[in-house]
Amino acid sequence: MAADTDNTTWVVACAVDDIDEEDVLRFDHEGASYAVYRLAKGFHASDGWCTHEQAHLADGFVVNGEIECPLHQGRFDIVSGKPLSPPVCVKLKTYPVRVDGRSVLIGLAAAGAIDAAKGAT
Ligand code: FES
Repeated sequence: MAADTDNTTWVVACAVDDIDEEDVLRFDHEGASYAVYRLAKGFHASDGWCTHEQAHLADGFVVNGEIECPLHQGRFDIVSGKPLSPPVCVKLKTYPVRVDGRSVLIGLAAAGAIDAAKGAT
């Protein structure tokens, strides 16, 4: 785990070979849950839980750059997190991803940055 100067902490989520193309993997870290996707043009990450109700998107289906929720079949654009079909209407939070060697890392706000953001409200 390493922090950039912009307070992004890069966390190893999985190995490149852990996810087949057009698939998704669950990654849990420090009490939060994420979904890591592999598309033809690279890796992406989002919050793991659907914004509609309690379903994990890693149990869903990746089709044409979209993730379909396993519970009510709402769909999100994987790259932008934009909701694409009812019943989902709230955007899915996405995270930066980079590949370092054979590892897939997701960029999370460093703990200090989260605390500062909470205090700013
Ligand atoms: S829980 Fe995902 S669409 Fe309802």
